[in-house]
Amino acid sequence: MRRPIIAANWKLNMLRHEAQAFLVAFRADWDAETHEASPEIIIAPPFTALETAARALNDCNVALAGQNVFFESSGAFTGEISPAMLRDAGCRYCIVGHSERRSLFAETDQEISRKAHALLKAGVRPIICVGETLEEREAGKTEDVLAAQLDGSLEDLEPVNARDIVLAYEPVWAIGTGRTATPEQAQETHAFIRAHLQAGRLRDQAKTLRIQYGGSVKPDNIRALMARPDIDGALVGGASLRPDSFARIACFDQPENTSS
Ligand code: 13P
Repeated sequence: MRRPIIAANWKLNMLRHEAQAFLVAFRADWDAETHEASPEIIIAPPFTALETAARALNDCNVALAGQNVFFESSGAFTGEISPAMLRDAGCRYCIVGHSERRSLFAETDQEISRKAHALLKAGVRPIICVGETLEEREAGKTEDVLAAQLDGSLEDLEPVNARDIVLAYEPVWAIGTGRTATPEQAQETHAFIRAHLQAGRLRDQAKTLRIQYGGSVKPDNIRALMARPDIDGALVGGASLRPDSFARIACFDQPENTSS
């Protein structure tokens, strides 16, 4: 069984006092006790709010994630953060290869692969993002683009470590646009990703590997997405910035009237 995994990607948002207020409010809505067997919840704050978030989440079953990392472990790399630093700050996960990093910061599959490898070595689980642009989808290239991103980003991955990675399918055209992939489109693509992994080096791991969907996930579309067999979770941007809406997403497995 694949345990559902719901993550908040705060991107470039949240000063420390805002993170603190969010997490106090979120914890009031999210009762980890009643969710023991249900989704794993992750918050990815900006680096500067990691310590605040770690304190606010102390003794609570919510994990922290970095939003990016550098693949070297130390040295003259001004401005960068290492996997061990993330771990030291309390992160169990780190997002890598988000489309904003690929497009705005020219991150390549090879760098993403090195980052994922370095994270695993430091005991931090990578959440590796892939996704096609609208132009690529409309040109019928979705599968080719995803296959290339997967092959490149997972190049350094030992199959035995696959249990410690999470994939996130985030169609670029659905990020921050309010235009979600339909549950059918998302399911079809997730199934393709799983089949592609199964046909390659991860044939024994593909069935247990978790694949999140990201792109305009909201409280009112999470249930339909999560009902699909190959959608194992969500990576949430805009709707994760309000504690009530993120709590409603996190509580997708509860009856609606107890989750708001
Ligand atoms: P939105 O939920 O704002 O579309 O962002 C998705 C995303 O990029 C999460 O990583």
